[in-house]
Amino acid sequence: MKIIMLGVPGAGKGTQAKKIAAKYEIPHISTGDIFRANIKNGTELGNKAKEYMDQGLLVPDELVVDLVVDRVGQEDCKNGYVLDGFPRTIPQAEALDSALLNMNQKIDYAINIEVPDQNIVDRMSGRRACLSCGATYHIINIPTKVEGICDVCGGSTVLRDDDKPETVLKRLNVYHDQTQPLIEYYANKGVLANIDGTMDMADVFAAIENTLEK
Ligand code: AP5
Ligand code: MG
Repeated sequence: MKIIMLGVPGAGKGTQAKKIAAKYEIPHISTGDIFRANIKNGTELGNKAKEYMDQGLLVPDELVVDLVVDRVGQEDCKNGYVLDGFPRTIPQAEALDSALLNMNQKIDYAINIEVPDQNIVDRMSGRRACLSCGATYHIINIPTKVEGICDVCGGSTVLRDDDKPETVLKRLNVYHDQTQPLIEYYANKGVLANIDGTMDMADVFAAIENTLEK
């Protein structure tokens, strides 16, 4: 099963992608997580990506396309994967499609998690992410057992630099300009499923399972 997650920043793509990956035993590939790991390790890619991410802008297509194409060609992706945060522009989607065509593969589902912009700023300012393992929490909805400490690995949980309200608004604008056209792109391919992302997390996941098992 080859799945793409679509939705505004903070819609719950990462939250749901992790559940899908665990249930269907396929890799979860998050370009945001890959960039954050590179930033943490001080790599050249990380340094370049950080310039854009901190401003709420997209990292240029040429820094992300090869990375993902290479990743989905690896052995553990043979039975499928869930792509979270990629593609984010029409050129990225076209590059992915042509790479998949070469491998005789195609995307089976584009899961679009719908949440109005007004809900997003509140969600993001409450999100905390683990610096070590990437687990995410929310100070009210899913708090850590000990404040500031990851339940999974004991690392520190922090507010992402790009989750400050002014940067979130910028990311929403960038989404509407550059990423939203992908909804039509995948609808035209007959693989789009719209899911109401304002429900609680378990109900959102149940709706996704329903779609995938139809
Ligand atoms: P990325 O990390 O992908 O960020 P994003 O798309 O902005 O999405 P988020 O991770 O912020 O949100 P999410 O939808 O995963 O929500 P989550 O599940 O955490 O990208 C970061 C940056 O990297 C980009 O801005 C860009 O610069 C760069 N980048 C990455 N990929 C790129 C690409 N392909 N091309 C170019 N640049 C790229 O949930 C959010 C919060 O809400 C959490 O606290 C969660 O607990 C809570 N929550 C989730 N679901 C619910 C619910 N149903 N009810 C209540 N709360 C909920
Ligand atoms: Mg995410």
